[in-house]
Amino acid sequence: MGNPRKKHSTAVASSSFREMASWKPLLLKSLDSNAHLKHSAFFQLATIGPNGRPSNRTVVFRGFQEGTDMIQINTDRRSAKIEEIQHCRFGEVCWYFTESWEQFRFKGTIDIIDATNSDVLKLQKREKAWFASSLKSRLQYLAPTPSLPAIAIHDPGEEIKLDPSEGPVDAFCLLIFDPDQVDYLNLRSNERLIFTSKPNGPSCKLWMSQKINP
Ligand SMILES: Cc1cc2nc3c(=O)[nH]c(=O)nc-3n(C[C@H](O)[C@H](O)[C@H](O)COP(=O)(O)O)c2cc1C
Repeated sequence: MGNPRKKHSTAVASSSFREMASWKPLLLKSLDSNAHLKHSAFFQLATIGPNGRPSNRTVVFRGFQEGTDMIQINTDRRSAKIEEIQHCRFGEVCWYFTESWEQFRFKGTIDIIDATNSDVLKLQKREKAWFASSLKSRLQYLAPTPSLPAIAIHDPGEEIKLDPSEGPVDAFCLLIFDPDQVDYLNLRSNERLIFTSKPNGPSCKLWMSQKINP
């Protein structure tokens, strides 16, 4: 019987990257098998503040940007995360699927699309995201500025009204999270895969995967 520690390290050293592998089919499968659980659409998004400290919060998965691996998130332009992303565009997403016991950790960069964006295509995406969200969720963007002390200036019975055909309000902002590394852990099978990417043309990535020790 050989030294088990030696055997272990040899296995890691000899395992090679598999080209063209992608994490997206795995994620789509997890979304499908956990679809009956409302909370499977929630994940944590971490950013880094100007003081170097991390901030983490729960957000809703708003789908992929059409035909890409980029993850969409709706947020309030006035929220603290915006200043953090402007300071440092790197972020991390952590997503756990309770039914299938799978965790996905995405490292990537975040693009902010707000009303001031000069790219017409991006503005169209923001508008599409606005109309794709419920009226109740749109109303949140008309609420007083997040994180400021709550002052009761309105009659609590007073209703904020919003015309359903009205386009995005200034506070509405679309975040595009573009992953460049994915760490997948399956607690059931005790498997862990690391997906890394390298640029392959102007807006394309080449993904590679490697099985690593959990
Ligand atoms: C279940 C759940 C879903 C949430 N979804 C979002 C979301 O999609 N977008 C968002 O900006 N905040 C969402 N929030 C609120 C954030 O967690 C956070 O409190 C807020 O965005 C302010 O964060 P910040 O001050 O770090 O910017 C959600 C909170 C919970 C509990």
